Amino acid sequence: MGNCFGCRDESPAPPATGKSPPSSSSWPNKEISAGSSSGTSGTSGSSGTMSGVSSGSEDYRRWPSTGADVGGRVLDVPKLRVFTLAELRAVTRGFKPEMVLGEGGFGRVYKGWADERSLNPAKSSAGVVVAVKKLNHESVQGLQEWQSEVNFLGRLQHPNLVKLLGYCGEDRELLLVYEFMPKGSLENHLFRRGAAFEPLTWETRLKIAIGAARGLAFLHSPETQIIYRDFKASNILLDADFGPKLSDFGLAKSGPAAGRSHVTTRIIGTYGYAAPEYVATGHLYVKSDVYGFGVVLLELLTGLRAHDTNRPSNQVNLVEWARPYIASGGRKLTGLMDQRLGGQYPSKAAANAARLAYNCLCGDPKSRPSMDEVLAKLEEIEARASARGSQDALPPRPAPAARRSPYRGSSRP
Ligand SMILES: Nc1ncnc2c1ncn2[C@@H]1O[C@H](COP(=O)(O)OP(=O)(O)OP(=O)(O)O)[C@@H](O)[C@H]1O
Ligand SMILES: [Mg+2]
Repeated sequence: MGNCFGCRDESPAPPATGKSPPSSSSWPNKEISAGSSSGTSGTSGSSGTMSGVSSGSEDYRRWPSTGADVGGRVLDVPKLRVFTLAELRAVTRGFKPEMVLGEGGFGRVYKGWADERSLNPAKSSAGVVVAVKKLNHESVQGLQEWQSEVNFLGRLQHPNLVKLLGYCGEDRELLLVYEFMPKGSLENHLFRRGAAFEPLTWETRLKIAIGAARGLAFLHSPETQIIYRDFKASNILLDADFGPKLSDFGLAKSGPAAGRSHVTTRIIGTYGYAAPEYVATGHLYVKSDVYGFGVVLLELLTGLRAHDTNRPSNQVNLVEWARPYIASGGRKLTGLMDQRLGGQYPSKAAANAARLAYNCLCGDPKSRPSMDEVLAKLEEIEARASARGSQDALPPRPAPAARRSPYRGSSRP
């Protein structure tokens, strides 16, 4: 839900008093308040309730409740469990440091256990694992991002979006409860080293790219029309089978019609991922997300961070550095591919994926493909590779040509 540069595009939200329901969010264009007033007060009466979103918006009611053609659903009202702080303390064993899964711009994320049906606090042996994100009061994020998460993610259901289960707003404490994603973030798997982070295979990388593209295509679909605005490796969480789900809707915006832009007064984003037109002018397009997707695709191919000040100055920005190498494929691309792949990838598929990343990273937003087009291309790359794989699995033909690894250990460009 974070931002690494710039600051909020609106003035900081007032501290939550615990008396008022979460409100606002720019989706769907008019004020929405999530939760009943009792639901967020944290009083004992709120425990275990499911909140709805009350809305006075006509636009809101006109929204279709399903987006079956894109495999997702937009709920009329979020169905979220309203937790008390005491419950979440019990769920996370008192927010113990040992329970910390990670930390981002909003605050720490804790592991916890809750009953599968009621989501009441549970013993570890009896419950399901959940992830609880708790606001750090020193964070520049706060009420606005929390409301945005509840209002957007609380209404969206899609296999490639992380499930928000509930929230808590009590006194100044703001918390969000999610389904637990056992493999953590893509960022950890791509860039961290250690026994817990085995190198991702080519097939897994492609699977992650396809699932993330599907999630983003759903957000951009006519049913949904959301600009996600924070597409990056740390916001792609992975299930037990490395199935990807997008998380963090704190920066999401209700999107303008295709081709039109939404103007933000101040720029929010993460170094290396934000589209150039957005950084330069604050004009945010649906295609600004496509740029972010291109950056992550490049990270999947190269195993290199989008922005890394530890690299030589001409290589700090991955896109600028890699752009000349990904346009053409071939040997130059081979040198740029992640060495942790050990050369185990189909070179044609890699060249096609690199070309796709190049198109997503086009300076002119209009020339970037739509997420539907990106998804179709990635599926084609996968289908071709698996068709080839099954051919390879057939009994050997006479004198099969030996396949040379395309990776020759050359130093990177
Ligand atoms: N639902 C979840 N299941 C499992 N782990 C999670 C979950 N949500 C977050 N995490 C872990 O907590 C870390 C921090 O997540 P968080 O979204 O707060 O920050 P971030 O994405 O790293 O940064 P930013 O604030 O810029 O978005 C993640 O990298 C991940 O390892
Ligand atoms: Mg995040």
